Amino acid sequence: MRKPIVIANWKLNGGLDLICTSVASFIGKHFSAQIAICPPYLYMRDMMTFLQYSELQIGSQNVSRYESGAYTGETSAQMLKQAGCSLCLIGHSERRAMFAENNEGCRIKVRTAINHGLLPVLCVGENQEEREAGTTQQVLHKQMYEGLSGVDLSIGDLCVAYEPVWAIGTGLAATPQIAQDIHQYIRSELAKIFDQKTADRIRILYGGSVNKNNANELLKQKDVDGLLVGGASLDPGHFLAICERASELTA
Ligand code: PGA
Repeated sequence: MRKPIVIANWKLNGGLDLICTSVASFIGKHFSAQIAICPPYLYMRDMMTFLQYSELQIGSQNVSRYESGAYTGETSAQMLKQAGCSLCLIGHSERRAMFAENNEGCRIKVRTAINHGLLPVLCVGENQEEREAGTTQQVLHKQMYEGLSGVDLSIGDLCVAYEPVWAIGTGLAATPQIAQDIHQYIRSELAKIFDQKTADRIRILYGGSVNKNNANELLKQKDVDGLLVGGASLDPGHFLAICERASELTA
């Protein structure tokens, strides 16, 4: 069975207050799901100091494709690992749309993350226009083949997050049925890129307007192995409720 995973993506939000209230709500609680928060880089170390009291993990919202050198503004996988990070998001649609990230760059980042012992979470998803044009599968196919071909999973693991762009921050989450259908497609593509056994092991998260009211039905879908939560993760009580749902499903 695939262990559920819930990841909070704070984006460019939050501060020391949010770190304190978020971590405090997790202290002393046990979860059968893997739970991580991706705060802005600057706050990672502050968060780490509290983590010995909870099962929370820290993730990064991005990672450099480079190891070291003259790359102003970048943070390497090795630095993130040394700082105590467990995982990193790669190719979030906001990075693709606003910071010109492409599939090839994502593939390099996935490899770099794995090489340094971070769990890469490759984000894929179609936008509204592509959905209306009926090209969702083609878009996902290209993102996955170009983002994952040749990646060696003998030394590490990876996750894929299906995040339809039309659902991010809009309040219009994909229905559980749409999520299931697309996740099933993603897994079938993963079986072609890797093999069936590997595809059965890879966790596929859903992201896009997840909240405590829709989390349960989404997580009940056979191929939905976790959630990537943006806006709702900025409310610690709300995020905790989502994590508890994910844990209950495995209990
Ligand atoms: P949202 O964001 O939950 O606010 O829709 C999800 C994401 O962008 O990862």
